Amino acid sequence: MSKLYQLSPSILSADFTKLGEQVDILKNSGVEWLHVDVMDGSFVPQISFGQPVIKSLRKKTDQFLDVHMMVDDPGRYVADMKASGADLLCVHAEACTHLDRVLSQIHENGMKTGVALNPATPLSVLDYILDKTDMALLMSVNPGYGGQSYIPYITKKIADLRKKLTDAGYPDMMVEVDGGVNSQTIDEVLEAGADIIVAGSAVFKGDIAKNVAFFEEKMAKYR
Ligand code: DX5
Ligand code: ZN
Repeated sequence: MSKLYQLSPSILSADFTKLGEQVDILKNSGVEWLHVDVMDGSFVPQISFGQPVIKSLRKKTDQFLDVHMMVDDPGRYVADMKASGADLLCVHAEACTHLDRVLSQIHENGMKTGVALNPATPLSVLDYILDKTDMALLMSVNPGYGGQSYIPYITKKIADLRKKLTDAGYPDMMVEVDGGVNSQTIDEVLEAGADIIVAGSAVFKGDIAKNVAFFEEKMAKYR
């Protein structure tokens, strides 16, 4: 990872008949991360895709695969996701009965850990596991679908999290924000303290390279 701030385009909004081409466009535009939304039809209503797609991506690109597990009991898949090529496995606090153990398993399998929180989940669930967390993901929509609207109260939650991390001695922890990030909302998300920006529809709708350039320019001011 060479850049401090990263755009992590959510391939959920890609055209799956052209996934390889679209990944090439992202790569040629300087995108180093890909956000991979795995949905199980239980933790969230929809089913998206799983290990076979991650394996194909891994064969195609050396980009950092940021895998967002919208799956019940994600501990079941840790070893399999590593074998498929995930670099970071982000699990929902709400989906893990034994979150601490799952985070240890992810590290033992050589991946970075992410802990995702739904909009209504309090930040305090992170308090005792900061040592095991490489990235906190704040959902700015209720997970399950691309193309939803950003929930305005999340801006304060991002700022509260940044303050909490600084006060607790983790000023460098990655804070990712996911859902409804677009030209209308990117400024407040960055200003509040996010440094990993997920965007699905705002990247894949229209001209991908142009959309990436827009986000890169916004993030460049903070690097
Ligand atoms: C939502 C997913 C998101 C989604 C983002 O459940 O976790 O990653 O694809 O899409 P946009 O940017 O369109 O809200
Ligand atoms: Zn996501």
